Amino acid sequence: MSMESKYLWMNGEMVEFEKATLHFLTPTLHYGVGVFEGIRCYPTKQGPAVFRNREHVHRLFNSALVMGFTEMPFTEEEIQNAIKLTISMNGFESCYIRPLVYLTDGGWNLTANGGKVNIGIAVWYWANYLGEKALDEGIRANISSFTRHHPNVMMTKAKIVGNYANSVLAKTESVQLGFDEAILLDPQGYVAECTGENLFIVRDGVVYTPPTAPVLEGITRDSIAQLCAELGIKVEERQISRDQLYIADEVFVCGTAAECIGLREIDFRKIGSGKTGPITRAVQKVFHQVLRGEHARCAEWMDYLSTPVESFVVTESRAA
Ligand SMILES: Cc1ncc(COP(=O)(O)O)c(C=O)c1O
Repeated sequence: MSMESKYLWMNGEMVEFEKATLHFLTPTLHYGVGVFEGIRCYPTKQGPAVFRNREHVHRLFNSALVMGFTEMPFTEEEIQNAIKLTISMNGFESCYIRPLVYLTDGGWNLTANGGKVNIGIAVWYWANYLGEKALDEGIRANISSFTRHHPNVMMTKAKIVGNYANSVLAKTESVQLGFDEAILLDPQGYVAECTGENLFIVRDGVVYTPPTAPVLEGITRDSIAQLCAELGIKVEERQISRDQLYIADEVFVCGTAAECIGLREIDFRKIGSGKTGPITRAVQKVFHQVLRGEHARCAEWMDYLSTPVESFVVTESRAA
């Protein structure tokens, strides 16, 4: 995977890829005190479009609030526009978008409001996070030996940089064991989520997903729940046990990087028919219609680059 692009957006300025560097003494690097987003831009007949730009940027600001960053140097609208501008400047039709809010100049006393809050945005081409065959064949997962964060230990509603050490531990273990992805249980022992995806099961035509308290409120999760309702498929939030995964008719996971992928095997047990099931396929189909700009929901969910974005003006106080 090449993460290269021509420019990154950093604190209101376009910075050449090679020059987008930070000092070793950046507190976010040492203590994980930063927040980020993962967003995607898709090619559509009306030109490239950012999927749920507004909601992703809103979650970024909520993550900053949860982290305790008291003053953000830009507004949500400015960041939405900066995202579109960065994609345009790089000439991407389709890309992954990574805004990061990070601390410089202070914060060494282990307080969130002791340093300066910065925002950067990178974009790069990134397809098939879970591999080429995942969409058709589904993937294999295991229940991780690592537990998902207790919601009063790490803040599970926020995409805090440090939270992801937990995902990295779980995913590394799974891949080393020969699986594609890890399913993490919450501290009570119920199914929480995967390392970067929310999870759904299907039983007797009804779709179930764990309640949001211990997991990230995924934007893909929300989109899929809404699309299921439109398809007449009932979705219920319910605590799910490990063995309910084994006996589900279908299990699928969803997230910005992975999109919507079926699980064909969990802990060496075949799930349903052992192939991506019919409800998962129906959900994938309608979700891909949205991503291609071919669904009624696009008016609300797709932020087209063709919508004029005024080039970003750096004010004196911000440039300082
Ligand atoms: C831990 C975790 N759960 C779920 C998700 C899915 O969220 P979304 O659909 O907003 O990408 C992600 C990805 O951001 C994640 O990191």
